[in-house]
Amino acid sequence: MPLPVVRTVADLRAQVRAWRASGLSVGFVPTMGALHEGHLSLVRVARGKADRAVASVFVNPTQFGPNEDFDAYPRDEARDAELLEAAGCHLLYAPAVAEMYPQGASTTVTVSGVTDPLEGAARPGHFAGVATVVTKLLNQCGPDVAVFGQKDFQQLAVIRRLVADLDIPAEIVGAPTMRADDGLALSSRNAYLTPEERAQAPALHQVLQALLQSLRDGESVAAVESLALDALARAGFQKIDYVEVRHPATLERLGPGPATGPVRVLAAARLGRTRLIDNVGD
Ligand code: PAF
Repeated sequence: MPLPVVRTVADLRAQVRAWRASGLSVGFVPTMGALHEGHLSLVRVARGKADRAVASVFVNPTQFGPNEDFDAYPRDEARDAELLEAAGCHLLYAPAVAEMYPQGASTTVTVSGVTDPLEGAARPGHFAGVATVVTKLLNQCGPDVAVFGQKDFQQLAVIRRLVADLDIPAEIVGAPTMRADDGLALSSRNAYLTPEERAQAPALHQVLQALLQSLRDGESVAAVESLALDALARAGFQKIDYVEVRHPATLERLGPGPATGPVRVLAAARLGRTRLIDNVGD
């Protein structure tokens, strides 16, 4: 049976209300479509935590910068719906831009602190777009649980912060990054890689893993960050936005000496026209 699709807030809420009236709990997986196994793993986590799973597909214009890939971002709703259905999703919410941002919409959600470094520094305005749309999606769906990937580690921290600060009554679950056999983190943007770049891309994960191991061996944060920068450049990455060791919860910078507590190592770098991000930690 094809996956039911709703396109309006009213229809989404009507279905969620009906489930709730039958005593069923609701899990939610917000996405921008171009689905891959990583997204489907989030659906499976949602299914494990709730009776019904809703996924949204909405390519959110407000989280793309003027020179970013909003127009080029891959879109194939029919394929996404088939994959979601096969993964056990019960409902697809696919609103148009005018449904999400009706004429006159003028409220933006900004989260301070955790949005400042890393992606926030490299992509001005990105997290205001993410925080606004995620707040709206959570208010529109009203799930018991919402699942986000750890691949976007800083995004997950931003969402946890806004949900706590705005008293949104949903449990936020972070699900592990899914990887190809060679270690490359699955991402819709991997589709932009040429065959040559695709062969180079797993170096990002390898360098992060090596960096983490060196930290565990007692090397200083400053030394391993510098070695990782060189290693990425040697592996063919042209523009390295950051490769940094940070605290996993606050994302505060650690170092320059050896790291004593838990860490997250995050990186963003470009191969040709594709910007890849990844992170590892303990
Ligand atoms: O991670 C994504 O796909 C997007 O940033 C999200 C959370 C769906 C908001 O548009």
